[in-house]
Amino acid sequence: MAGFLAKGAVSIKDIIAPSFIEVDFNHLKIDDKFYRTLYVVGYPRYVSANWLYPLITFDHPLYISMYIYPTEAKVVLEDLKRKIAEMEATIEGDIKSGKAVDPTVQVALDDALALQAELAKGSERFFQFGLYITIPADSLDELNQVAKQIDSVISSLLIIAKQATLEMEEGFKSTLPMFYDRLGVWRNIDTTSLAMTFPFATASLTKNEGILYGVNQHDGSLIIFDRFTLENANAVILGKSGGGKSFMVKLECLRLLMMGVDVLIIDPENEYEKSTQSVGGEFVVFSANSQYKINPFDLTTVNPEPDELSNKILDLHSLMRVIMGELTPSQDALLDRALVLTYRERGITQDPETFKNEPPLLEDLFKIFTGMETPEAKELADRLEKFVKGSASGIFNHQSNFDIKNPFTVFGIRDLEENLRPVAMYIVLDYIWNRVRKDRKKRVLIVDEAWYLIKQKDSGAYLHSFAKRARKYQLGLTTITQDVEDFLSTDEGKAIITNSSLQIILKQSTAAVDKISQTFYLTGGEKHYLLSAGVGEGLFFAGHSHVGFRVIASEEEKTLIE
Ligand SMILES: Nc1ncnc2c1ncn2[C@@H]1O[C@H](COP(=O)(O)OP(=O)(O)OP(=O)(O)O)[C@@H](O)[C@H]1O
Ligand SMILES: [Mg+2]
Repeated sequence: MAGFLAKGAVSIKDIIAPSFIEVDFNHLKIDDKFYRTLYVVGYPRYVSANWLYPLITFDHPLYISMYIYPTEAKVVLEDLKRKIAEMEATIEGDIKSGKAVDPTVQVALDDALALQAELAKGSERFFQFGLYITIPADSLDELNQVAKQIDSVISSLLIIAKQATLEMEEGFKSTLPMFYDRLGVWRNIDTTSLAMTFPFATASLTKNEGILYGVNQHDGSLIIFDRFTLENANAVILGKSGGGKSFMVKLECLRLLMMGVDVLIIDPENEYEKSTQSVGGEFVVFSANSQYKINPFDLTTVNPEPDELSNKILDLHSLMRVIMGELTPSQDALLDRALVLTYRERGITQDPETFKNEPPLLEDLFKIFTGMETPEAKELADRLEKFVKGSASGIFNHQSNFDIKNPFTVFGIRDLEENLRPVAMYIVLDYIWNRVRKDRKKRVLIVDEAWYLIKQKDSGAYLHSFAKRARKYQLGLTTITQDVEDFLSTDEGKAIITNSSLQIILKQSTAAVDKISQTFYLTGGEKHYLLSAGVGEGLFFAGHSHVGFRVIASEEEKTLIE
């Protein structure tokens, strides 16, 4: 009964099957697509490595199947012995009857003898090889046209191919990835030739749009690419110190700027100063007596998110942990209350209308803590004091006094004390976040020496959330770090890598390469390449493609960036 009912039911096959198939002499029509299959009957005498490359990278989709069947050397040897005897007899016959020896027979005999020796030694094995190609097309015209082009590619490879006339259905099935060799047209081929046939093609990353990233090391093609066409525009750049990370990014910034993309850079070494000058950008330098001020309590009044204030308080909470270090759970709760209170004293609540009020300053939070008069609050106040009264107060305890207007704006923080840099980076990131939400346009934000942020859990998590949120505002985050080990051993670092469609790995140290290999599933060859790579050389991952590449700059560009 169950079987009877099943007969009437719709199965998956019914759903995915085409509504009709029309089989013609030399094409097949499935729904509204046309197909034609070719099989190869003759191969060139010599082949070189990756000789099928022109066919495999042909600029039209093709279904290419290769069937490889090992054969017993014994059988082949016997065949070969017979063939050799035949050819020797032919030649001898010619000589005896005083005729000139046919040179093609002589060549074939030499080949056969060489092969016999290789087979007998066991250094070569024998295979039967079938090569079929199906061309899909949207119309019969297109099919004929593509078939013609394929024909010329094939003859340039010295391959002889034939249409599988009257066998189109078998041909089509033979090129589906199902191991259905319905054509059975095979030729003998030895191990070396077979190995040469293996399609070692590199991914081509040459697009019509975008900027130059470098030269593909495998085939010399240019890597031209628009990162904004990827799932997200984020990038990570990992590499040993001096490997050329900053150099590469400076080049990218120059080239992106020409394409109308705005560039924002957080620069802990003040090394983007030259580039900034060259392009007429703005270099915002933070030091104890800097003219630029940022207030971390700023709220955005343009396009606030529904829970703007709550999110801001969360972010400030993390910032305070970066400033004050580890907090106990009760200190944490205290901090939360204090932050809400600080805003409330300025009349700022969840209502976006109130965001127009002047935001509080760090010293207001400090006052709240001192006003609480508990030992716990006192301790927090002490930890904050340096930022309110000490050296850092010059920058982050004032209302923000500038706007990002220049399409190339760099935040230089080298002149701050080393332990202040992560705090400054965090605050600048947050400031930029508020700014980019005001108007949507293509921007990149570069965070150089990102390990300053990653080594601390809260700032690492902030950078990660930044990477996740960036896409919504057409922002591409570039994270650069030399401290690969630290970066890859934190959850935040790994998450940032996962959230970056573009991944660039430059020269690596022996210490870091194993971790890199594991994370990026590198082959032995790629691992070795990273170890021996020169300055500006590495691997370029975009989506699913990866290639070895080298960053190149023109002399003109070099003078602009260093
Ligand atoms: N593709 C390149 N072509 C020519 N010179 C390069 C290239 N890449 C880097 N260099 C040279 O190598 C130097 C070091 O490169 P860069 O400052 O970019 O290293 P880095 O990876 O950022 O190092 P760190 O981690 O220490 O910041 C540069 O000053 C530049 O002169
Ligand atoms: Mg650098």
